[in-house]
Amino acid sequence: MGKAPPGKYPQVRTITDSERIRMVQEIFSTITGRYDFLNRFLSLRRDVYWRKFAAAKMTFFRTHRYLDVACGTGDLSVAAARRHPHITVTGVDFVEAMVNAARRKVEREKLADRITLLQGDALCLPFDDASFDVTGIAFGIRNIPDRSRALSEMLRVTAPGGQVMILEMTFVRNRLFKGFYSLYLNHLLPVFAKAFSKNPAAYYYLADSIMNFPAPDEFSKILEQAGLVDVEKFPLTFGIAWLHVGKRAN
Ligand SMILES: C[S@@+](CC[C@H](N)C(=O)[O-])C[C@H]1O[C@@H](n2cnc3c(N)ncnc32)[C@H](O)[C@@H]1O
Repeated sequence: MGKAPPGKYPQVRTITDSERIRMVQEIFSTITGRYDFLNRFLSLRRDVYWRKFAAAKMTFFRTHRYLDVACGTGDLSVAAARRHPHITVTGVDFVEAMVNAARRKVEREKLADRITLLQGDALCLPFDDASFDVTGIAFGIRNIPDRSRALSEMLRVTAPGGQVMILEMTFVRNRLFKGFYSLYLNHLLPVFAKAFSKNPAAYYYLADSIMNFPAPDEFSKILEQAGLVDVEKFPLTFGIAWLHVGKRAN
């Protein structure tokens, strides 16, 4: 599915995992400056609502700590800290420019005493087992080729009975919406990206990665296979994004 992306990035299905990881690192190091603006603009601010929705589903019961994996510029960390004033938050991302942008945001939001940001890899999280009541990842899992390892790391650091949350965009397969969404991803998005981003080719990767992400039912099964229990899923904005919430068994 998906057209060959013009520009410098190959289609995700045609490259090895390590090539994809290098590509993801390059993409996210070059789009940091306009990342938040383009998220808001391209989603008509729905991304803010989606993260708020995820934060509202979080429950804290033992460690009162939340881990934001692939935290990017820290929006879900901030949403979680605002929604739950008694928790502390740790955000981890492997791109230094993203972590620096998140630190600046957290300072601006006067949340530096409750949110810590670290450079680190989702595949090898630098935390002890069962350190967090809730572990989440927003728009990150799509960019990680070894999903099962990332999910097992998230489970490992989550306390028994705690939640693992995945917020992700997916290609809407609904017959009525499919044509419009494909037009948007493959034709409109590149035009906006060209106008506003220093690295418009990155937005072909965005479309390609969304179109190649598993459908929600299939993704629920992937989560169960990874060991999550009580998996629930919530469609957001006609199913453009989905929140999956599972638990680490007690
Ligand atoms: C689309 S952004 C999402 C950022 C943020 N969570 C948000 O809600 O806007 C994806 C992020 O995943 C990060 N990422 C991808 N693979 C990663 C990995 N293996 N370990 C840590 N971060 C990773 C990228 O650096 C990038 O910042």
